[in-house]
Amino acid sequence: MEEAFTPEPRPAWIAGLPEQGASTLEVTHPFDGSEVATVAVPGPEQVERAVAKAAAVAAEFRRRPAHQHAAVLEHVSRALTERAEEIAEVITAENGKPLKWSEVEVRRAISVFRIAAEEARRFDGQLQRLDTDEGGEGRLALVRRVPRGPVLGIAPFNFPLNLVAHKVAPALAVGAPIIVKPAPRTPLSALILGEILAETDLPDGAFSVLPLGNEETSALVADPRLPVVSFTGSGPVGWSIADAAARKHVVLELGGNAAAVVLADWPDLAGAARRIATFGNYQAGQSCIAVQRVIVERAVADEFVPVLTEAVRGLRTGDPYDTEVEVGPVVDEAAAARIVTWIGEAVDAGARVLTGGGRTGATVEPTLLTDVPPEAKVWAEEVFGPVLAISVVDSADAAFAAVNDSRYGLQAGVFTRDVGLAFRASAELETGGVIIGDVPSYRADQMPYGGVKGSGRGREGVPAAMADLTEEKVTVLTGITL
Ligand code: SIN
Repeated sequence: MEEAFTPEPRPAWIAGLPEQGASTLEVTHPFDGSEVATVAVPGPEQVERAVAKAAAVAAEFRRRPAHQHAAVLEHVSRALTERAEEIAEVITAENGKPLKWSEVEVRRAISVFRIAAEEARRFDGQLQRLDTDEGGEGRLALVRRVPRGPVLGIAPFNFPLNLVAHKVAPALAVGAPIIVKPAPRTPLSALILGEILAETDLPDGAFSVLPLGNEETSALVADPRLPVVSFTGSGPVGWSIADAAARKHVVLELGGNAAAVVLADWPDLAGAARRIATFGNYQAGQSCIAVQRVIVERAVADEFVPVLTEAVRGLRTGDPYDTEVEVGPVVDEAAAARIVTWIGEAVDAGARVLTGGGRTGATVEPTLLTDVPPEAKVWAEEVFGPVLAISVVDSADAAFAAVNDSRYGLQAGVFTRDVGLAFRASAELETGGVIIGDVPSYRADQMPYGGVKGSGRGREGVPAAMADLTEEKVTVLTGITL
């Protein structure tokens, strides 16, 4: 990957300035293990400087006028547009997702910064009347939202640009300094974002990008100068952060085993099968809302299952730079081996493989299983790989119960045209989001996004994150004529 490779390690961004680090980290391409780039890893003194400057600039930054926040965000959106092709190639180099999905990711990040610029301009408070009782006559409350303080954003490998954007853009929109810790496997897109942020007039300390190892992050999590931690990644790590930082505001966007429900009234079974095949396997299944569980009403199962099997079998795997390829590698060979082991365990417990099941290196064949026992990991845990498991149920009631029989609850998709069932799904499914007429993988970047149960707490999506990174502050005016 020519563009990403530079002879000098890619600099980290310490309080807005590029610096070489105390050590380096090598980034490799998941498809063939080739070297992509070397990245500077900051040492303790640099990390301390980033945190100290974030804390020092917080008061000044929060008081900046909204148009200045918006101008920074507009610049980032424009610069991402201008560099879209280059950045998509870097995402594919470091993450291994097919180029067309990297292009989608860049387009989404462009929108995230544009939406944040729009929201920054309308982020205001509200008036609350207090004369609802005698004692409040002549008083009026002004309720505004102010940043809780500098943010530590810890991002995962599966969307190395857009899930960083979902932390950076809302923080800058509300005037909160942010320190980003990208995933060690995929730091390059975040470092490019650092380059773009450095082109703006953000004050020193408003942003840092620290490509640290996961072990070096615990000191940052514990640091009281960073009162907000926004984490996206695995459940065990996320909940351990919440425990370690019990007095902080911790936002957790964790995984899931998202379900797509196909009910008997759905008129286009082939269309549903295509969507499920695609979104069980996009990014090799490495999205928290990739379809994993497919719950089909018995009345349409005989027609639906063969069509889905063919749709999954037809997905092309291979080199993610090949524009025909739909399913690339997972993040590394260890992840591929773990996924294939989980498939094997399910088969040993009685599951049948309808297609797939094997792997070559880090590339796992798109896999469809049936007769999977509910305790099997491919059903009950988050696979984070290109694996779908089907369950056939007798009714919509049984389908909704099966969706809820999970320790996760991020999003669910329900293929129905019945408005009554749609409202029931909305009311009864224990998930942060319910997508009617499509897969659970649908996400628009302005929408509140996050889970219940083991899938996390708090919400991302630009306006929701802006609310989450701030708290209400009330000013009471006395002697007011209403
Ligand atoms: C995630 O994997 O949680 C993010 C999904 C998305 O942004 O589409």
